[in-house]
Amino acid sequence: MRPVRLMKVFVTRRIPPDGWAALARAADCEVEHWDSDEPIPAKELERGVAGAHGLLCLLTDRVDKRLLDAAGSNLRVISTMSVGLDHLALEEIKKRSLLRSGIRVGYTPDVLTDTTAELAMSLLLTTCRRLPEAMEEVKNGGWSAWKPLWMCGYGLTQSTVGIIGLGRIGQAIARRLKPFGIQRFLYTGRQPRPQEAAEFQAEFVSTPRLAAESDFIIVACSLTPATKGLCNKDFFQQMKSTAVFVNISRGEVVNQDDLYEALTSGQIAAAGLDVTTPEPLPTDHPLLTLKNCVILPHIGSATYGTRNTMSLLAANNLLAGLRGEPMPRELKL
Ligand code: NDP
Ligand code: DGY
Repeated sequence: MRPVRLMKVFVTRRIPPDGWAALARAADCEVEHWDSDEPIPAKELERGVAGAHGLLCLLTDRVDKRLLDAAGSNLRVISTMSVGLDHLALEEIKKRSLLRSGIRVGYTPDVLTDTTAELAMSLLLTTCRRLPEAMEEVKNGGWSAWKPLWMCGYGLTQSTVGIIGLGRIGQAIARRLKPFGIQRFLYTGRQPRPQEAAEFQAEFVSTPRLAAESDFIIVACSLTPATKGLCNKDFFQQMKSTAVFVNISRGEVVNQDDLYEALTSGQIAAAGLDVTTPEPLPTDHPLLTLKNCVILPHIGSATYGTRNTMSLLAANNLLAGLRGEPMPRELKL
């Protein structure tokens, strides 16, 4: 009998059960993993990936030139358990793909869209109706009586909502917002998406116009060189003083110093952030001192079901890629 050559797979974290089970069943792979719920240190990652044919990584792992060098020439598949790709040096991966047989990249779109849109809705309502502040007042004795203007916020009915990035998640958010009686949807992107926008009668506008006319702004774009720092001083200055800003995409789309200034000077009413720079946000960060800023620890896709499905898709992408089969969700490089 010929000895079977096993493909080496490195997994950068403990992953939810379905993905793990799929990898464990793969008789053609030898799977090693970082046996922790915490991110793998860079040195350990470089050691673990050396010689690997497949890498299953998370959004906390930077897959850059240095890591690709550490992996070496065996590497054929990178499968990330995320839809966001900003932690992958795609240009570098592409370059190497041209030099040899090709590195394939898998990711996990769609399976987290609804869960993330649900979280965006929760964050928007929590922020615009000031829920954390109100709950705190109940506990600290600040609730003295029902008062006409006490704890008032801003309502969604009859409002204008601006969505930066009407992609999968942006559309899922708009779909959930529609029954709240939104009067008008605006959106931005690299180009108009008339087919998708028709469902919401959403109007494609410039970023300054979206900033100026929206009562609620939701950032749902991917992080790219073009969107990095997009929400900056100019952007916040264009917003209404009664407007509420929500970001569920990536922290780096927002200039946090400019956001702090906008929130403290009354340029905008409030902000809700599921993502920050850095992550975790240091506990002494100035934004955490503000009552009109609600910050969550990047939990957009955090349901047991969704994370399990993401892990299974990431594992199936990896295995299919290694076996030269069509990957369930392969990124076109
Ligand atoms: P899509 O690829 O479907 O959507 C990305 C959107 O970004 C598109 O609408 C695209 O618009 C827009 N975009 C790209 N470039 C620009 C630009 N220069 N200006 C404005 N918009 C731009 O991805 P998903 O909807 O599935 O996910 C979006 C992002 O959400 C992910 O990349 C990830 O970073 C983040 N995310 C966060 C989660 C969380 O836990 N908080 C969970 C899941 C995702 P167009 O193509 O029309 O230009
Ligand atoms: C992603 O997949 O990009 C999210 O940020 C994690 O849920």
